[in-house]
Amino acid sequence: MENVRTEKRDNILWVTIDRPKVLNALNAKTLEEIGQVFGEARTDDSIRCVILTGAGEKAFVAGADIKELALMTPISGKFVSEQGQSVFLAIERFPKPVIAAINGFALGGGCELALACHVRIASETAQLGLPEVSLGIIPGYGGTQRMVRLVGKGRALELVCSGDRIGAVEAERIGLVNKVVPADQLVSAAEEMAKKFASRSPVAIRAAIEAINAGMDMPLEEGQLLEATLFGLLCATEDMKEGMSAFLEKRPANFPGR
Ligand code: CAA
Repeated sequence: MENVRTEKRDNILWVTIDRPKVLNALNAKTLEEIGQVFGEARTDDSIRCVILTGAGEKAFVAGADIKELALMTPISGKFVSEQGQSVFLAIERFPKPVIAAINGFALGGGCELALACHVRIASETAQLGLPEVSLGIIPGYGGTQRMVRLVGKGRALELVCSGDRIGAVEAERIGLVNKVVPADQLVSAAEEMAKKFASRSPVAIRAAIEAINAGMDMPLEEGQLLEATLFGLLCATEDMKEGMSAFLEKRPANFPGR
């Protein structure tokens, strides 16, 4: 890997986008590497949670790489958008929780990357935004679709049409990030949340992510049917037996993930 570093600590995988000279901008190679990392981690049972962050103190990811974008034609532009969309969709549908630890600028494709993660924790110094209209384009890695789902139509339109950056506190106020912490506590806050996720039943978490992701785009009754089906399926798992027994025996559960 040239531009992505990974480190496994216990059962948590840290994924760091590592191009600090260009504020971790996403070129095609970096996107490909992110896709590869998540592809491999998907079936690795020793990983129960992923934390995604950016190298250095200044940026999470400052967007798609504008040097590459400047050369786009209508045909290659569509491909660029589709490549990012497909990598980010794989993150959104990743069967284990993915936490974005936003350590600085999360702009354009960087904000869209954070939007694809399941949970976002931002440092007080983070700034988020979708500045694409300032470049004569629109968000192309799912931002027009995910921002509206997360913060509502009015706020999404304001962010996308102004291209303005907002600070972490404002991002938390509008529901764009889950939590804001002082910069020096970002790693520990992300790790604390990841450890909690990792201590829960992996098969139940996988079903929960699927129910929430798929259910959001379904009518309520279909979403409820999916929920009931997954709920029923979980009753056949060792995790369910362990979770219930642990409660009744007044001890912490130790989930096998089956
Ligand atoms: N692509 C390529 N290079 C980038 C970059 C990007 N998205 N963002 C920053 N860089 C580079 C700068 O060109 C600069 O390189 P040089 O040192 O070689 O000049 C280096 O990173 C440091 O950046 P700045 O000197 O600009 O740092 P700053 O502190 O003055 O400003 C910033 C920081 C406000 C984040 C500014 O860099 C900036 O506005 N970056 C671009 C943000 C942006 O527009 N992102 C959206 C990209 S389009 C997109 O993502 C499309 C999509 O949806 C698919």
